[in-house]
Amino acid sequence: MPSPTVRLSPEQITAYHAQGYFSLPPITTPEELVKLRAIYDRLFEQRAGHAEGNHFDLAGIDEAGQAPVLPQILGPSKYAPELVTTLLRANCDAIAAQLCGPECLFRGDHAINKPPHSPAPTPWHQDEAYWSDDTLYAHALSIWVPFQDVNEANGCMQFIPGSHKLEVLPHHSINNDPRIHGLELDAGACDVSHPAICPIPAGGCTIHPSRTLHYTAPNRSAAPRRAYILIYHTEPVKLPAARNFYWNRAKHTAREERAQAARAGQAQGFKA
Ligand code: NI
Repeated sequence: MPSPTVRLSPEQITAYHAQGYFSLPPITTPEELVKLRAIYDRLFEQRAGHAEGNHFDLAGIDEAGQAPVLPQILGPSKYAPELVTTLLRANCDAIAAQLCGPECLFRGDHAINKPPHSPAPTPWHQDEAYWSDDTLYAHALSIWVPFQDVNEANGCMQFIPGSHKLEVLPHHSINNDPRIHGLELDAGACDVSHPAICPIPAGGCTIHPSRTLHYTAPNRSAAPRRAYILIYHTEPVKLPAARNFYWNRAKHTAREERAQAARAGQAQGFKA
């Protein structure tokens, strides 16, 4: 793996802990970005991970034969191992360690590919609302990397400063439809009328901990808005009593059905 080139300033580390987000200029090279875009487009063309429920529609009901509103791939580096040995990955590992210590390790990645002229926002949410309600992390963060320049018009990140200090707020499935994977903050749960809007260049990144409220607008441009997200956290700590993320318990998605079928098929294979 290449050696990392990013060294965070004390001001950036302070901003992360005080505001709950900050952005950085490119953490990869233009040459690597060309390769990353090709890998990314190939994975979405192949619908990598579809059979295991790892390629799915984040904002629609994900029915067979329907074009996804907001295609997402979980764990793209499982399907393209060359993502692991990039300068981008080395720099993200270094950023997480500099912010939250050497125990804050890479735990997974995902990709959200907002199609051209897509009417779908990624609604306001806290990432932790998607996670298990019986587990906590001393530190958990996401590094969000667009593979083209992003601004408000094609879906750059927007954050509510200071919201990382809140508990996990009530969420619901998009459209209140438990067949849809994506979550949305309940109306009125927090004032989201004054976001910090973070346009950044291709290969730059925004960094936020797991409770910072964030949103991206619809992609009104004629090009796809490719975002690659890397997740880091410290060792999980089991809570003595689970919180109640009831919005996850109500879910019944086609993606989860495919994942269950794939797991059952695998178990069958081991038996045979
Ligand atoms: Ni998120």
